[in-house]
Amino acid sequence: MKNRMIKLIAIFFISSLFGLSNADIQANKLFELLKAKRSRNSPVLNKWTVSDEATEEYSPVYIAPQDGLAQLDKILALPGQPAGVSFNQYSGYVTVNPNAGRALFYYFVESPTDSSTKPLVLWLNGGPGCSSMIGAMSELGPFRINSDGKTLFRNDYAWTNVANMLFLESPAGVGFSYSNTTSDYDNSGDKNTADDAYVFLVNWLERFPQYKTRDFYITGESYAGHYVPQLAYTILLNNNKTSQTVINIKGIAIGNAWIDDEACSKGMYDYWSTHALNSDATHDAVYKYCDFASNSSSAMCDNITDKAWDEMGNIDVYNIYAPICLTPKQRNTSASPGSINKFDPCWQYILEFYLNDSMVQKALHAKPTSWDLCSDVITTWNERAVTILPIIKYMIENGQRLWVFSGDVDARVPITSSRYSINTLNLPIETAWRPWYLNKEVGGYLEAYKGLLLITVRGAGHTVPSYQPQRALALFSSFLGGILPSSS
Ligand SMILES: *[C@@H]1O[C@H](CO)[C@@H](O)[C@H](O)[C@H]1NC(C)=O
Ligand SMILES: *[C@@H]1O[C@H](CO)[C@@H](O)[C@H](O)[C@H]1NC(C)=O
Ligand SMILES: *[C@@H]1O[C@H](CO)[C@@H](O)[C@H](O)[C@H]1NC(C)=O
Ligand SMILES: *[C@@H]1O[C@H](CO)[C@@H](O)[C@H](O)[C@H]1NC(C)=O
Ligand SMILES: *[C@@H]1O[C@H](CO)[C@@H](O)[C@H](O)[C@H]1NC(C)=O
Ligand SMILES: *[C@@H]1O[C@H](CO)[C@@H](O)[C@H](O)[C@H]1NC(C)=O
Repeated sequence: MKNRMIKLIAIFFISSLFGLSNADIQANKLFELLKAKRSRNSPVLNKWTVSDEATEEYSPVYIAPQDGLAQLDKILALPGQPAGVSFNQYSGYVTVNPNAGRALFYYFVESPTDSSTKPLVLWLNGGPGCSSMIGAMSELGPFRINSDGKTLFRNDYAWTNVANMLFLESPAGVGFSYSNTTSDYDNSGDKNTADDAYVFLVNWLERFPQYKTRDFYITGESYAGHYVPQLAYTILLNNNKTSQTVINIKGIAIGNAWIDDEACSKGMYDYWSTHALNSDATHDAVYKYCDFASNSSSAMCDNITDKAWDEMGNIDVYNIYAPICLTPKQRNTSASPGSINKFDPCWQYILEFYLNDSMVQKALHAKPTSWDLCSDVITTWNERAVTILPIIKYMIENGQRLWVFSGDVDARVPITSSRYSINTLNLPIETAWRPWYLNKEVGGYLEAYKGLLLITVRGAGHTVPSYQPQRALALFSSFLGGILPSSS
């Protein structure tokens, strides 16, 4: 059981090291948190009680002059980038707390065409504690990294086709983001993450003032199912209390998102059982021994969920039909260049290899860092919501566009988890379940509720755009346009 702890970590994983079994290598930070319910270091659970926060006085946030900094952040070229890049890329740090010396790293890519009329969209990856450069370089950004870990190729389905995309490494301690007061890392939690991200945004908009009044959306996946609504909520509250900076937020889209502990846990084990990964007996025992509504776990529950995990064997839980990355050493780095439609299962090593390169870090204006996919300096998560459904309700009431999307072959935060979470809201149905089409094929299914859209992406894993880039872009374009994808 030595690796029992590791198995728990990170909705983003450190996968398949050295051919160990799945249970040994799949790391899942979220599951560490859920099991921590049983330990002494258990995070403070809360429900982000909406009404309490709304009545608090606004205290102005830190804002520093940002003149001239955007130009310094401009990226001349990324090492290994293909020829003919015509769009602007920027990256660098925004200080969010000068006393602590805390700064967050961002990467910003403008749309190659008509960027001045396209919206500004923030993308966040989850964890908690994983980097949004995953999204930038392995999912929806303008480039993907070839298997050599050194050169880049164009992503024809980049979300920058339709938006100006901002990627934020959050909170401090993740990726290139840091604090000079290292005890800050031990204070990480949902609330601090949202607060810092808000200060980041306000200052970033000072640095790029042409985006101040632009339509703004927040997107993300996995544990960003917490980050995204919580940041949106923080923005809405502060917009209402201050004339300091009003952020023109219009909506959010969250993919394979951890929304509600109880619904998502049940949805996961139901998916495992209905997708032939677990026996009926184990599934029944999970329900018998685990009380998902409880804020604490039990030894019996841990025992049976370990068994459920072991039964699955060494597959990629984030895409149950994908090949796994056997070992990084088995990768043939001289093999043919990467393909947008064939996602390399060793992507995490490739990404770490690229972003850990000192020339790449220099080009990105990042300070020299041993860059990791998920933070290893953030070892505790002090506070988190057990559910973000109250915020979802608040956003619906405030007229925000709300899309919940799901890659349907992810077994980590599967479609069942999304459906159970949404079902608890009992929203009236406006468009009944139907397929949506792209190029004459079913791209997925959707169901429109009053105030919220549930939409699947067929054949996509946890990181939806990695596996189905074209469908993901079609979905994202529809989201920005506020229209449902084609029914034929
Ligand atoms: C779990 O914790 C939340 C947040 O503190 C609380 O609202 C909820 O009632 C708790 N659930 C149970 C079953 O104790
Ligand atoms: C952190 O400390 C370094 C070294 O003193 C300094 O250069 C840097 O500006 C500090 N970072 C922040 C955000 O204050
Ligand atoms: C803004 O404040 C008004 C008055 O207090 C309130 O009615 C409204 O719901 C608030 N809106 C948001 C988005 O918080
Ligand atoms: C669960 O408990 C049983 C009985 O105590 C034990 O034999 C088994 O090894 C445990 N399984 C796991 C995965 O810990
Ligand atoms: C690696 O790929 C290249 C090009 O496809 C091939 O020529 C070479 O034999 C492969 N090497 C190994 C060890 O598989
Ligand atoms: C990143 O580079 C540093 C120094 O070059 C090295 O110590 C570290 O092991 C590397 N990390 C990874 C994940 O390769």
